[in-house]
Amino acid sequence: MQKFKEEIGRLLAPLVSLDPEEVITLLEVPPETTYGDLAFPCFTLAKKRKKAPPLIAEELSGELSGRKGLFWEKAVPRGPYLNFFITPGAFGHEVLSQIWENGEKYGHTDLGKGGNVPIDYSSPNIAKPFGIGHIRSTVIGHALYLIYRALGYNSIGINHLGDWGTQFGKLIVAFKRWGEESKLEADPVNYLYRLYVQFHQRVEEDPELDDEARSWFRKLENGDEEAVGYWNRFRQLSLENYELIYNLLGIEFEHYHGESHYNKMLDRVINLVQDKDIARESEGALMIDLEPHGLPPVMLRKKDGATLYITRDLAAAIYRYETFNFALSLYVVGAEQTLHFQQLFKVLELLGFDWSSRCIHVPFGLIRFKEGRMSTRAGKIILLEEVLQRSIDMAREIIEEKNPDLVDKEGAAKAVGLGAVRFGDLSNDRVKNIEFDWEKVLDFSGETAAYIQYAHARICSILRKAGAEFAEWDNSAASILVKEEETALIKTLAILPDKIIASADSLRPSILARYLIDVAREFNRFYHNCPVLGSEGELKHGRLLLISATRQVIANGLALLGIAAPEEM
Ligand code: ARG
Repeated sequence: MQKFKEEIGRLLAPLVSLDPEEVITLLEVPPETTYGDLAFPCFTLAKKRKKAPPLIAEELSGELSGRKGLFWEKAVPRGPYLNFFITPGAFGHEVLSQIWENGEKYGHTDLGKGGNVPIDYSSPNIAKPFGIGHIRSTVIGHALYLIYRALGYNSIGINHLGDWGTQFGKLIVAFKRWGEESKLEADPVNYLYRLYVQFHQRVEEDPELDDEARSWFRKLENGDEEAVGYWNRFRQLSLENYELIYNLLGIEFEHYHGESHYNKMLDRVINLVQDKDIARESEGALMIDLEPHGLPPVMLRKKDGATLYITRDLAAAIYRYETFNFALSLYVVGAEQTLHFQQLFKVLELLGFDWSSRCIHVPFGLIRFKEGRMSTRAGKIILLEEVLQRSIDMAREIIEEKNPDLVDKEGAAKAVGLGAVRFGDLSNDRVKNIEFDWEKVLDFSGETAAYIQYAHARICSILRKAGAEFAEWDNSAASILVKEEETALIKTLAILPDKIIASADSLRPSILARYLIDVAREFNRFYHNCPVLGSEGELKHGRLLLISATRQVIANGLALLGIAAPEEM
């Protein structure tokens, strides 16, 4: 689309006494495709020309008549807008050649100029099973990671593990009192989690357990060898378990700097806060009053000297700035922590860090399974590992039925099963709560990953059949596509770059996800109405170029959502 816009900018600029750049930023996409492909609104010219916008639109179209661009064939006034219509052949040629040339990189840019973007995502809590509650952060965070990479930023994945806090005091007490070595060895994370639940049940009758836990946590904070030994072990065992999930999902983090990583920097945070004189002692605790800013107070240190989640987040934010001098620092964390991040960013601002405005919380709603909401406290937890496995199994069954002769059923089942879970999440606006419904996420004709993957596999199969007949770029064939379905599909393919940018700017991978549904849908409409292998000569070659470009767009888009595009399924 960019070239098309640039041309309008060049042609219109002298007529309206604006820079081509200004013309381009004013251009809009008309509400109906029949109105045109891009619209120039004439409101801003009304003052200068002392005329009503519709009249200006009329005049401009007159001034332009007879001057044809390379990519557009006419400019038609409609109310206060001047609507431009593309020239299908030339436009198709341009779009298809760009996709052909750029291949896997089509849609990627160097907009970010290598700027660092640390992305804090996934971040589960040690010694708790990786529950479905962390799937959204994992999936949305990873998509943003990939999308920012594609735009030329240097994404840095940070897993801010919940590996510090009073819960470790509780776990040590529970393990020392009731723990069994053999059970820990056999199934570490689930066992630790059961101990944690047990602690919460017993503390009801025996409140002293809480004091004991506090004192163990204090020991841990003071570096007591025994306490640190337990903690290290619990952490290591949990990490090994999480790695299995990350491997399955193809996710790697640049850093596993959990909360504990920032312990040695907490004194500095406290000193900074005291130097700026924004904290006060209250009953032995160190507090920051945020009432003037409409926020509840922040506690940085409890009266027993223990620090808190937010103290470590302050240290982490400063560390990230000093280490990465970031363009943006993203926190992909559930909406229930919105207040926490408002407080965090406000304190950074009060500390005088102008970069606090580059810290962004990317919130998302809850995920529910039709079975009901999951909670760790109640002792019932839906494990992500089981969800993923179940999805793969269900995908395998469907594939078994649809395509019993498929060679790599396992590969396809994995791609479709994992894609279903990811897309089931990513295709929703992240701020909404989502209800996860197996029937829906694995529906091959619904708004699902499978639907898009299937379009991709279908194209691969057509291209395989075309074989040697279609291996090269053919200039004239690329300009031959002017049928409505062809043009509509080409226009859809043309906007992948815009959609990637829009997803990054709004931090919403759902924009890209929904777009890919449109691509698959437009492809199906085209394929239904325009024979590919059944046509002849240049037209056949042109259509092969078109479906090959479609395949590339789907593959590139899915890749940015972390979803595989199998060639057969
Ligand atoms: N471990 C936290 C949780 O599960 C999420 C951490 C998010 N990142 C952060 N920097 N606070 O709720």
